Amino acid sequence: MSGGGGDSGAARRGHLLVVDDKPNMRRMLSDLLGEQHDVRTAEGAKRALAMITAGAFDVVVSDIRMPEMDGVELLSAIKREQPEVEVVLITAYASVERAVEAMRLGAYHYLKKPFEPDELVVVVERALERKRLAERARHLEGELERARASGLSQIVGQSRAMQALFALARRAATSDATVLVSGESGTGKELVARAVHAESSRARGPFVAVNCGALPEALVESELFGHARGAFTGASDDKAGLFEEAHGGTLFLDEIGDLPLPAQVKLTRVLQEGRVRRVGETRERVVDVRVVAATNVDLEQAMADGRFRQDLYYRLNIFALAVPPLRERSSDIPALAAFFLARYGGGENGPRRFTPAALSALLSYSWPGNVRQLENAVQRAAAVAGGEPQIDVEHLPPELGQAPVSVSGELELSHREYVDLVKERASREYLVALMRRFGGNVAQAAQCAGTERESLHRLLRRHGVRPSDFKAE
Ligand SMILES: Nc1ncnc2c1ncn2[C@@H]1O[C@H](COP(=O)(O)OP(=O)(O)OP(=O)(O)O)[C@@H](O)[C@H]1O
Ligand SMILES: [Mg+2]
Repeated sequence: MSGGGGDSGAARRGHLLVVDDKPNMRRMLSDLLGEQHDVRTAEGAKRALAMITAGAFDVVVSDIRMPEMDGVELLSAIKREQPEVEVVLITAYASVERAVEAMRLGAYHYLKKPFEPDELVVVVERALERKRLAERARHLEGELERARASGLSQIVGQSRAMQALFALARRAATSDATVLVSGESGTGKELVARAVHAESSRARGPFVAVNCGALPEALVESELFGHARGAFTGASDDKAGLFEEAHGGTLFLDEIGDLPLPAQVKLTRVLQEGRVRRVGETRERVVDVRVVAATNVDLEQAMADGRFRQDLYYRLNIFALAVPPLRERSSDIPALAAFFLARYGGGENGPRRFTPAALSALLSYSWPGNVRQLENAVQRAAAVAGGEPQIDVEHLPPELGQAPVSVSGELELSHREYVDLVKERASREYLVALMRRFGGNVAQAAQCAGTERESLHRLLRRHGVRPSDFKAE
């Protein structure tokens, strides 16, 4: 069962390298230190450096006086290459200046011969401890970095709908309650699930994701809850399930609507009791896991159809995070498009901006595949645009050209405003087609359109359509 790292420090053997040109010294030192640690030896500094570069040593114990390269030079080479390796120097010819220089170069300690064996053992022990603390600190730093990199702040979304979602997700993160993330395909449900984990007190524990729809029905239960050896044909070993793997962290159950009913019953029990029973075992194991589930199907409908259990639904739906479809938050589109362009833009010579026309096409498209579709469209457009400085309409996928007006919840149009908007666009489209047909000849166009020349001029001006743009060269 992995609780997210952390060794039992004291018992671990250190990896030491003893460097001395005299064979009897090497033997004496490796006997002395070999009881508690794994010790390897090198007869010179050059050989030692090669070994350090190749292998993972914690502490190097080196003589100072050696032919070819001395211990202090070795020390500075080590600190250049692997500063985290601790170095203990030993010498028979101690001088204060040399000792000061060694410490300044980063030696952990400097011992003068003759020394008590215990003295060296203790110094090495402390050096190891410092190395481990440094490693631990770096590990935690890395974890924190990763947690920050997958937090809510990494999700693009200034729209009111997304800001409200983030606020609720933040509250969910501080609790241990189950979370149900719902939304159409490609809206960012998994991103939200990971962010809830990353911002929770479980961030340093595991995040285990499983797609319930992808598991073969016969194996669902053994995958989730584990199995005992011989529980069924093919169960050749005891195996922990994903619940146990996620101990101390978060279990992400994606496509929860696809979970078969018998597994739903068991899952409900696990959520209720905080314990799992492996298939084929009688004893129960306590698991400390927060469950985040996601679905792109309407679970209420699935319940009505008898495909989803009500008791499970209520257990899961404690925090309900509904990720809105992209067409209901079109104000996020420019920032998302810029975000993906920065990711896929192809560096220095690639496109860095969208033309106003391209942006307007992105804004008025309905995005049935949501953010994922936008991500793909931008990636493709960046590739198509190649060395161009801007992405234009022609680089975008063709379906965006024929953009129907979307009913955008974000704009919160009244019915009247919406209908007016559609009329405006239709009117403009008509005028453009008309000008094209008559090559910008307003008099002929007016006749065809059944209107006066003057009023057609007014209409064209209002819509910003210029007849001169349609005149043949
Ligand atoms: N708000 C956002 N900001 C940045 N990237 C996003 C955002 N929403 C989604 N994405 C990106 O869009 C893609 C799809 O997101 P994700 O996989 O989380 O969607 P999903 O809802 O789980 O989709 P599905 O239902 O198909 O599994 C991912 O590459 C994700 O990084
Ligand atoms: Mg998903």
